[in-house]
Amino acid sequence: MTDETVPSAYPPPADFAAHANATPALQDAADADRLGFWADQARRLHWHKDFDEVLDWSGAPFAKWFVGGRLNVAYNCVDRHVEAGNGDRVAIHWVGEPGDSRDITYSQLQTEVCCAANYFSSLGLVAGDRVAIYMPMVPEALITMLACARLGLTHSVVFAGFSSTALRSRVDDAEAKLVVTTDGQYRRGEPVPLKANVDVALGSGDEAAQSVQKVLVVQRTGIDIDWVDGRDVWWHETVAESADFHVPEAFDSEHPLFLLYTSGTTGKPKGIIHTSGGYLTQTSYTFHYVFDHKPETDVFWCGADIGWVTGHSYLVYGPLSNGATEIVYEGTPNSPNEHRHFEVIEKYGVTTYYIAPTLIRTFMKWGREIPDAHDLSSLRLLGSVGEPINPEAWRWYREVIGRNNCPIVDTWWQTETGAIMVSPLPGITATKPGSAMAPLPGISAKIVDMAGNPVPDGEQGYLVLDEPWPSMLRGIWGDEQRYIDTYWSKFAKEGWYFAGDGARYDEDHALWVLGRIDDVMNVSGHRISTSEVESALVGHHAVAEAAVIGATDETTGQAIVAFVILRSDATDTGAQLIDELKAQVSIDISPIAKPREINVVPELPKTRSGKIMRRLLRDVAEGKELGDTSTLVDPAVFEAIRANRS
Ligand code: WT7
Repeated sequence: MTDETVPSAYPPPADFAAHANATPALQDAADADRLGFWADQARRLHWHKDFDEVLDWSGAPFAKWFVGGRLNVAYNCVDRHVEAGNGDRVAIHWVGEPGDSRDITYSQLQTEVCCAANYFSSLGLVAGDRVAIYMPMVPEALITMLACARLGLTHSVVFAGFSSTALRSRVDDAEAKLVVTTDGQYRRGEPVPLKANVDVALGSGDEAAQSVQKVLVVQRTGIDIDWVDGRDVWWHETVAESADFHVPEAFDSEHPLFLLYTSGTTGKPKGIIHTSGGYLTQTSYTFHYVFDHKPETDVFWCGADIGWVTGHSYLVYGPLSNGATEIVYEGTPNSPNEHRHFEVIEKYGVTTYYIAPTLIRTFMKWGREIPDAHDLSSLRLLGSVGEPINPEAWRWYREVIGRNNCPIVDTWWQTETGAIMVSPLPGITATKPGSAMAPLPGISAKIVDMAGNPVPDGEQGYLVLDEPWPSMLRGIWGDEQRYIDTYWSKFAKEGWYFAGDGARYDEDHALWVLGRIDDVMNVSGHRISTSEVESALVGHHAVAEAAVIGATDETTGQAIVAFVILRSDATDTGAQLIDELKAQVSIDISPIAKPREINVVPELPKTRSGKIMRRLLRDVAEGKELGDTSTLVDPAVFEAIRANRS
């Protein structure tokens, strides 16, 4: 295709627009009365007691939304639909990696959530207690989240790909009383241990995690596990045997629903706090309008893992609060082969498909003959999340997966924002490949310079949120000051939230998110901080200093590249050491944080004030001409680095 034949914007198909949930009236309503608009969105939910005030921002930056209101999040996601006569509707088409599957209706989900809630109560857990969830994508993971929500227990899901070290620090930080896990999990057809990681994480004797009273284990793979009497219990011997009737209690709108740890610019992960009424309002609202959800006919599939915020908001709370029918897929997209996702779309008639650009680029690499071998005609809407989507991948997604007939919603948001903030509305917006287009109705965002002045269209600036929003984070667990410093100090005078992303408006005022401007990398849509990887590397006895950067990568968006200086007494300096260092990062953080490349170098480029010039290391890693080196102490260091690159 030549440039002239490639449209720069794609309006929605006429029949899609004609039946879309969102019409221009939505934006008009939000513009006319923003808080009244959010009150209307909140009333899409069931409140046991109505709220008195929409927003209390007097304690800024600590917001209170829907003040005085009381609700039960799980009731809204489950019981409400059963009471409305939709108990026989499938909530979850669960697809296991080895080929097993389960369909769970809303009635069945209600039964399972009630059993779990009754068992959790019998353990003496009460509202406000924390529960750690370290599970693969099995139905019990969602059931556990909902049972926690039902009881006002604050869940903390830890991605099952994280190491035992990462799990332990999260369990300790939140002082979790209960850990829910599985015996093992499937990874590309093979059962691998999971509870064993919990055992290592929780330790024993003097080293034991103090807060944990019980470990609840779902039998998934049947592999052998160790057992700690008195601490460990089987799901099938406890939850499954519990009473299936449970009356939900209403909690304050600001009751903490969950913690989710995410990487910041320093080594210690932040426990992002989300509460109930505002979070559910915005996840529910965005699910309905951004995904144009039609409960009678749609089958929604969000490809994210529950370990990330996308899994919380668009695999659990957004879809279920809307009474959706959705796919929950346990495995990887290439197990048993690359056809897996397309087989699932075909078999279940998936209408709405929401994945990360890195997966789209992987599909591109595998080749279009794979999706072309399937009937994907059920699809009517595609979504993208987690990182900027390059226009080439966007066009491929539209043409090959969407048969040029599905709007694409490129949704920008963050763990901290809780729900989608910037996105096209699929029945209205003429979308431009690579652009997230515009803040949603009810959301206010600006692109500004360092002094807080809006930058003209075409120029790059900082993306800020200049008005509070319902699903905003309410703080960092145990560290109020860090919350203020991280998000509210850059534009303190204006009282704006700084998202950490650079962005620009183009000549048509379409919003382009350009990526992080801080030391946070984005690898396959996962957020990893450079300093977290650096501290894992210097944790190895041979390493004196480390600098880590995210280099542009065709498939994963960014790839982790490390530069290390060895200690003078390091004996091994070869390939074995590099393997050891990679393993160290896997163990300390997760295999997803493993550097693609580790370079042993004699020195790191530093400014006179001692700051490592990451920008220059990025140029080296990407094989580019070096930028300005004039502030370096010793520009000759690059000759040495280039010479040593593995
Ligand atoms: C960071 C947040 C959103 C849930 C998954 C990631 C980047 C996210 C987009 C997008 C460009 C995006 C930003 C953001 N990001 N979505 N559509 N276009 N960049 O959540 O781990 O909290 O990461 O992901 O850099 O700040 P997260």
